Amino acid sequence: MTERELVALALAARERAYAPYSHFKVGAALLCGGDAVYTGCNIENASYPCTLCAERVAAGKAVSEGRRDFTLLAVAGSAPEYCTPCGLCRQFLYEFAPDLRVLCADSAGHYEVHSLAELLQAGFGSASMAAGKSE
Ligand code: THU
Repeated sequence: MTERELVALALAARERAYAPYSHFKVGAALLCGGDAVYTGCNIENASYPCTLCAERVAAGKAVSEGRRDFTLLAVAGSAPEYCTPCGLCRQFLYEFAPDLRVLCADSAGHYEVHSLAELLQAGFGSASMAAGKSE
């Protein structure tokens, strides 16, 4: 699976977005290990905070299928700008893959590469709680 192929899968997943409120479709494709890809699209709701981002849909599908070995994520939006994961998704991904590599694509499939560590500095993880737990 090449980076370009993963971006193409994210763009295809974007077509299945349910985004009647923002009209901004997002697709994601998450490579686990070297062999499995889970895709996601944003799923909006009339109660706006219920909305699921494409990245969390893809990550949730992977975890629910027993895969936590996230290696590469592609995200594709609907704008000429590169689509970067929102803050909530960055934290969600950090739980499983603090060193994840992230391909942020525009609507034409051009992309730039980021690391999750760069996108989310000093993320909160299980180690952040280890010393502060009360009995
Ligand atoms: N959205 C995503 O799916 N992923 C992101 O990282 C950015 C935002 C969605 C949520 C909402 O449905 C729409 O884009 C506009 O915010």
